[in-house]
Amino acid sequence: MPVGQGPRGLLGARPRGPSRRGAALSGLTVDVHLGPDDLAEALRADARLGLTSTPKFMPPKWLYDHRGSELFTEITRQPEYYPTESERRLLRQTADEIAAAAKSDTLVELGSGTSEKTRLLLDSLNKNGELAKFIPFDVSEATLRAAGAAIRAEYPNVAVHAVVGDFDHHLEEIPRSGRRLVAFLGSTIGNLGPSDRQAFLRRLARTFAPDDRLLLGVDLVKDVGRLEAAYNDAAGVTARFTHNLLTVMNRELEADFDLDGFVHEARWQPEHSWIRIGLRSRRRQKVSLGEIDLSVEFADGELMRTEVSSKFRRESLSDELEASGLQTVSWWDNGDVALTLAAPS
Ligand code: SAH
Ligand code: TRP
Repeated sequence: MPVGQGPRGLLGARPRGPSRRGAALSGLTVDVHLGPDDLAEALRADARLGLTSTPKFMPPKWLYDHRGSELFTEITRQPEYYPTESERRLLRQTADEIAAAAKSDTLVELGSGTSEKTRLLLDSLNKNGELAKFIPFDVSEATLRAAGAAIRAEYPNVAVHAVVGDFDHHLEEIPRSGRRLVAFLGSTIGNLGPSDRQAFLRRLARTFAPDDRLLLGVDLVKDVGRLEAAYNDAAGVTARFTHNLLTVMNRELEADFDLDGFVHEARWQPEHSWIRIGLRSRRRQKVSLGEIDLSVEFADGELMRTEVSSKFRRESLSDELEASGLQTVSWWDNGDVALTLAAPS
């Protein structure tokens, strides 16, 4: 079976055909800028680069196949993982104020996932029926389709235009009509390191019209114990999430990673202001990836980085936004997480 196709295809397979849009009449359209073939090719390239680099790394988007997206949802329900609940509480308190400040008729959501917390924004923006369109953007097509259909059913006056794409390549493909509020929640921005973040924000800011606003949700620097516990939950869900990357590579790249040969690790690195997440090899071992004709050695104790989760401070975040062409208009925080509203400067 070709990689990325069939029932166990990468990030959820989709029947192939010329039409990549849903029926406009149903009020739900889906643009796919990233089909199974594109994903398969990108995964091969990322594995070739990441597994032959020192230190080894893999980009985080490969954590989110169908199973990975389910596991992420389960992470958000773990008692140690405070960011989701904390951001939900803050959104509940501020959504009306955000809606009043932004005056948007279009809500864009980057890395939307299941768009659970987003309903608080949808409700506030739609109090008087003034919200016309919701545009969720995510790399995970299956998750996006399910979330898009659910929101379409719950908000009959709001058209849903879902966009399947990658932050790295498709920000420019997001529709620009309307007066937009672009929400980027869950501290997903923190999964980029400082220089990638700067590049990302610059590219995003370049797509903004003067009345567009960015709503950025970030996690704040706090007590190390709580930070590390959030990525080392006692039930082991985060460990399963990280290990799922190996399952993805075994399936899509004909690799033979032994899941028991690696331990999940998440550690606060104050010099970078991030939690570094990865898989540490329990022994010296060799892994082959048949699909890309690659064989890699792991030393005993060697770490393969799968993600960073940066934590923020008010001052430096607003400096970063400014350097990208965005000025902070409002800031709300509850000590744990923050929401910041920014406008093109
Ligand atoms: N916004 C949700 C989900 C956050 S999880 C929340 O706040 O809980 C991060 C989301 O970003 C996932 O849905 C994942 O599929 C998506 N994602 C990760 N890397 C991406 C990339 N490179 N391009 C687009 N989406 C990406
Ligand atoms: N944006 C989330 C965060 O940084 C993503 C995340 C949560 C995550 N738990 C994880 C990524 C565990 C990798 C491993 O908090």
